[in-house]
Amino acid sequence: MRVAALLMAAGRGERLGGAEPKQFLPLLGRPVLRHAAEALLRDGCVDLLQPVCAEAERGRVDAMLQGLPARPAVTGGATRQASVHAGLEALAGDAPELVLVHDAARPFLPPGMVDAVVATLSEAEGAIPAQPVADTLKQAEEGTILRTVQRDGLFRAQTPQGFRFPLLLALHRQAAPGATDDAALLEAAGHAVRLVPGSEANVKITLPGDLERMEASMLPQML
Ligand code: C5P
Repeated sequence: MRVAALLMAAGRGERLGGAEPKQFLPLLGRPVLRHAAEALLRDGCVDLLQPVCAEAERGRVDAMLQGLPARPAVTGGATRQASVHAGLEALAGDAPELVLVHDAARPFLPPGMVDAVVATLSEAEGAIPAQPVADTLKQAEEGTILRTVQRDGLFRAQTPQGFRFPLLLALHRQAAPGATDDAALLEAAGHAVRLVPGSEANVKITLPGDLERMEASMLPQML
């Protein structure tokens, strides 16, 4: 087995409100997590999925992924970084060459993006999809602008983020808490991480209304 993918689903989705975490909400009749899993497998270069979720959700996550090449879900941690570390340790016995880390809350990962990330790993230790920042950025305090931040060279990081598996595992084993994505661990240790084009479609469901908006935008393609 060469390429494994962690499917990160241990978040509680507090920003979205409601009792159900965002990755389990229905989207066009199926859980968001199932859409994300199928999208990861679509390009044909991922061999194995490793879901990571809350202890109490393991049974239903396994059921949601039925029929797909997925290992049984493992329990995540209090932060995304701790959850990724748990997933990597669960994969250690399989010793994949490459690992992708993908948010289960990103169900619209477009075709070709997994291929692009994996292909870029032949020339770098990390590769992530990212979109250039288009809006003007303001730094503010208590509702008043302090300054305008230069947006040249700024990107919004997306997932799936891809890495050489042994390197990412080693970095997670020694990392201090506080990283909001995995590329940050490579950057801090001086490893090169390449950008591949992200997509406006590859949004992370975060706020109330996100799911309804996405469903409405997808419906015309489904009819
Ligand atoms: O909270 P955030 O939106 O950054 O979460 C991104 C992804 O990481 C989600 O799919 C979420 O389920 C996952 N996550 C996790 N463990 C946590 C926090 C978030 O697996 N403790």
